Order: sequence, then structure tokens, then C-alpha cells
Amino acid sequence: MAYMKMRWVYISLVVLGVFCLFYNLEDLNPFKGEPVIFKNELGDFLQLPDIDCGQDPPFLVLLVASSHEQRFVRLVIRSTWGREKIIKGKRIKTFFLLGTSPSKDISREVAKESQKFRDIIQKDFTDVYFNLTLKTMMGMHWIYRFCPQTTFVMKTDSDMFVNIYYLTELLLKKNRTTRFFTGFLKLNEYPIRRRFNKWFVSKYEYPWDKYPPFCSGTGYVFSSDVAGEVYRVASSVPFIKLEDVFVGLCLKRLKIRLEELHSEQTFFPEGLPFTTCRYKKIVASHHIRPRDILKYWQALEGSLQEECPDN
Ligand SMILES: *[C@@H]1O[C@H](CO)[C@@H](O)[C@H](O)[C@H]1NC(C)=O
Ligand SMILES: *[C@@H]1O[C@H](CO)[C@@H](O)[C@H](O)[C@H]1NC(C)=O
Repeated sequence: MAYMKMRWVYISLVVLGVFCLFYNLEDLNPFKGEPVIFKNELGDFLQLPDIDCGQDPPFLVLLVASSHEQRFVRLVIRSTWGREKIIKGKRIKTFFLLGTSPSKDISREVAKESQKFRDIIQKDFTDVYFNLTLKTMMGMHWIYRFCPQTTFVMKTDSDMFVNIYYLTELLLKKNRTTRFFTGFLKLNEYPIRRRFNKWFVSKYEYPWDKYPPFCSGTGYVFSSDVAGEVYRVASSVPFIKLEDVFVGLCLKRLKIRLEELHSEQTFFPEGLPFTTCRYKKIVASHHIRPRDILKYWQALEGSLQEECPDN
């Protein structure tokens, strides 16, 4: 009997020990080696869009982080805010950023979609949420290599509503074309150290207590020179899987300061309830379902000539 009891105590201790070890391994282990570094020569493009930026430079290129299964959303975006447009004489183009899938069927579908629409940028990395940094850097690389002639770039997501009319208007007013970076500014953010949180970041991944200033990854806008600059310093900045923080680290290294696009809030990473008048004066809103993108876009385009009361 005593023996059985002892055995249970023993087993419990072992289980507890393993549990503690699991929890602290990351902080204890001195043999973790070098921090992960982004290798910017990694991977060639698998799919390229059909555009000659040298011949006919766009004013604004929108890069939309997307995933393979979001084919329908891409169709919706292509027919709404992502449709090629000339606004105030300025050309706006939208492209989608994709990684690769282990599934042959999905890969074939993407290749077909790319041939049909000619608006997909793809490199060889696994398309998973925590490879978003690679996806963003692919976008930077593409701008730097194939489209440095565009004046501005916006990186955004597929669950966003983007008012390209107002964005173009504000960018023209701002009259800044180099070392410019804007969006929803996050100036005082801290790493989340609670395990099991979606955005958990270990001390090993990011040893510092505070994040650099960065813009919410839901939508940020920059002058095209920034793409090349960020791409250039990316391999000398500690890698972090949170793409917006990573870009923030690059900007800090480059001493590029974040700026507000407008005195009023125009980027809404938490979303904003729709009214036509409200959405006429915003740049980006988050958590929008495809059918709402369609609805809001129709309402917005239908009211372009109408005035809204000021507040
Ligand atoms: C990101 O992609 C690389 C290259 O395909 C892959 O080795 C890695 O496992 C991916 N990252 C995650 C978090 O899955
Ligand atoms: C934009 O800025 C340049 C100089 O930085 C100035 O010459 C030009 O007049 C400005 N244009 C507008 C529309 O403010």
C-alpha cells in the first residue's frame, strides 16, 4: 500500500517536473543559439503579375495579404476597391500576396487564377498565419525589384474595406514622396508574454520589453522608396513573426518616423459601423465580410458626387 502511494507521489512529481520544464524551457535554455534572421535572398518569385511599372507607373499599389482558400474574397476585391482605377488622374493597382500550399490541387488553382487575372505575387514559403512577415517582405521585395516607380504602396488584408478615393485625395494633399510611412500608429505596445494568447511572443523571440513604434498591419501606406530600404535592412534586424512589428523594427533602424495621414482618424483596425457619410472620410476599416465589401462599395461609389453634412 505504502509502495503504491509512493509510486503515485513519484509519478506526480515527474509530471509536475516535465510541466515546469515545458513552461520554462524557452527562458532557461542557454543553447538556443543565434536569434532568427530574415534572409532576404530567400526564394524566387513563383507568380508575377502582369505590369510594366517603368512604362506606365502607378500612383498607388495595393498589396493585399491573402491566402489560398480566399478565392471568393479576391473576386470581390477585384470588383470593388481593388479594381484598377484612375482617380484624379492617378493610376491605382491591386495585387495579392500568396505563399505556397503543400496541396497540388490548390497550387494548380492558384497558378490558374494567376494566369487569368495576372495580379498574384507568390514566393515559395508555406502560407500560414505566422509566415506573414515573409509575405510582407515578399511584397517589399516585389516593389523594390519590379515597381519602384510607383509613388505609394499600401499593404493591407483581405478582410478590409479600403476607400481608395479618400486615400488618393489625402496622399495628394500630403505631398510627401520619400521616407513616408503612415497608418494606424501604435506607439506604445508591449509584447504579450501570456502563453496561449494568439500573439504570445517569448523572451527568446523578442527579448526587449517594448515594441518599436509601428503601424497596425491591417493597413499601412508608405512611399515606394521605403520598400527598398526596408528590404535592404531586413536581414540585419531581429526577426519577429508579427509582420507589423518587424516592419517597425526596420523603420527604427532606418530612422524613418511614422506620421499621421490626417488630423482625424482614417484607419480603423477595430472596424467601424458603416454609414455612407462616415465611410467617405475613412481610408481603411477592418472585419468586413465579402458581401459587406460589395454593399459598402456600391453605396460609396453611388454617392461620390453627394455632399455629406460636416458632423
Ligand atoms: C514558413 O515557411 C517556411 C518555408 O516554407 C517553413 O519552413 C516554415 O515552417 C513556415 N513557418 C511556419 C510557422 O509554419
Ligand atoms: C509639394 O512640395 C513641393 C516641395 O516639397 C512644392 O514645391 C510643391 O509646391 C508642393 N505641392 C503642393 C500641391 O503643395
